[in-house]
Amino acid sequence: MEKRFYVTTPIYYVNDVPHIGHAYTTIAADMLSRHNRLMGREVFFLTGTDEHGQKVEKAAQEKGRTPKEHADILVENFKRLWIKLNISHDAFIRTTDREHIDTVQELMQMLWDRGKIEKRSYAGWYCTPDERFWTEKDVVEGKCPDCGRPVEQINEENYFFLMSKYHDKLIKHIEDNPDYILPETRRNEVLGFLKNNALGDLCISRPKTRLLWGIPLPFDDRFVTYVWFDALVNYYSATRYLAPPTHPSPSRGEGKGGGETLNSDDWWPASHHLIGKDILTTHAVYWSAMLMALNLPLPKNIFAHGWWTIEGKKMSKSLGNVVDPNEMAEKYGVDAFRYFLFREVPFGLDGDFSENALINRINTDLANDLGNLLSRFLAMAEKYFEGKIEPAVSVSSLSDFSNHCIRAVKDANDEQGWSHLRFNLILENIWSIVSETNNLIAKEEPWKLAKSDMGRLKDIMFHIWNAIRVTALLIYPFMPSTAEKMWKQIGLKSLIEETTDTLSGEEKYPQIIDWEWRPDYEIKVSKGEHLFPRIETKEAKKK
Ligand code: ME8
Repeated sequence: MEKRFYVTTPIYYVNDVPHIGHAYTTIAADMLSRHNRLMGREVFFLTGTDEHGQKVEKAAQEKGRTPKEHADILVENFKRLWIKLNISHDAFIRTTDREHIDTVQELMQMLWDRGKIEKRSYAGWYCTPDERFWTEKDVVEGKCPDCGRPVEQINEENYFFLMSKYHDKLIKHIEDNPDYILPETRRNEVLGFLKNNALGDLCISRPKTRLLWGIPLPFDDRFVTYVWFDALVNYYSATRYLAPPTHPSPSRGEGKGGGETLNSDDWWPASHHLIGKDILTTHAVYWSAMLMALNLPLPKNIFAHGWWTIEGKKMSKSLGNVVDPNEMAEKYGVDAFRYFLFREVPFGLDGDFSENALINRINTDLANDLGNLLSRFLAMAEKYFEGKIEPAVSVSSLSDFSNHCIRAVKDANDEQGWSHLRFNLILENIWSIVSETNNLIAKEEPWKLAKSDMGRLKDIMFHIWNAIRVTALLIYPFMPSTAEKMWKQIGLKSLIEETTDTLSGEEKYPQIIDWEWRPDYEIKVSKGEHLFPRIETKEAKKK
């Protein structure tokens, strides 16, 4: 088993207002990180902001600020949001960090020294807002094929990374490593693109006459670095100055002092780069080729998830339909919002966001299924046993129920499911425990047993307690505060995080997730607030 897990999100443009799209990728990375921490791995979860380039330069000018002052103000929008959404990142990188800038220049110099960069004069169509060149055949009636705004003809000298040399090597890497790009549709898309097109070289400089706000090229300071070259390097540069200290492991660190390679740290390569499908090419092609040229290992996986639309429409400022995750979290609760995003749509596919769909999920899965299960259980425990739950000795008539739960726990923790980011299937498995437990209550009718068979009732109550216990553990990556609340209400004394803290080297999670686990103290449950109160909409009231 890999002992270290390194996951990244895109570094978001600092001048964007954070919306559900940004929240989506970052929550996914958070879920993976929390799961992997539970599994006893050392985790490095990195997010951050992309701060150079024309848009920031221009917006700052308009506000009468320097670009850095402007970025310092805007970055807080992201930092505040991540606190609100309970994001457990280990580090936040900004491309204006001195150490990042140094790494970009060092890598750039290395590529230059190795003859992987060439100076050429270049004529092409340039889209200023997107900060990228297009070829004649890309341009659609004088407009950028991506954003539809006018492009201008530019003729200038620039530096080119000789990316075309990596064409065949890229294809081979993707073919040899079926999990390199996921989901499979995206992998096929990249392969199709590479097989049907000649890969060009990549212009990686911008003359200072046109853009000042960037990292100067170390070998020609009349130019700054193309913002994507700068941005992609963040994943690597962060491992040098932002990664948590590691615990020694004999199988690691072999790259140290390896001459040609720069892989002298414990965290590279990343386990997953999580991105949206919009930036697949820059990652799967540019970044992979850059790493090959630098003799650095490639990440183990690039996962490009789908796109959220809002009630069928593209999210955009001009349509005024940008969904603010702050508002959703305040209105519906952080955990409900987190749950909805990953239960509603398989990770990888596009999804449509609507508050109605969110309310439906809250009322059905969260309030009815999960919340009611816990509150009914707690009410019965208090009514029939003054809150005390006693471990049942083996109860053969409940073995079907136990077996179902044991299987669902196994499926929900299946490594394939997690490494392929099948979040909705994992949640389905967890919810099968919740439904099976609700079915058990319906079938056994504890209120009748209370009059006829207190012994059996005691056993049933223990089984329900046990099912709620494993459910709390399993939902922790998705809904950390809800999990902790459940854990406390069913009488467990330490926090989930403390219980499973494995950095001591002890494998605690396998013990506490085991169906047979029992606390070494008396279990006394205590009723708390309802986890998910129903949301009454006009429609629901009418019904
Ligand atoms: O592209 N649905 O930053 P960015 C789902 N700085 N996800 C969405 C989304 C939507 N409608 N909109 C945005 C950049 N995202 C570069 C990245 S990385 C080295 C540099 C998410 O602020 C998704 O993860 O435009 C997408 O890839 C990312 O935000 C783009 O963020």
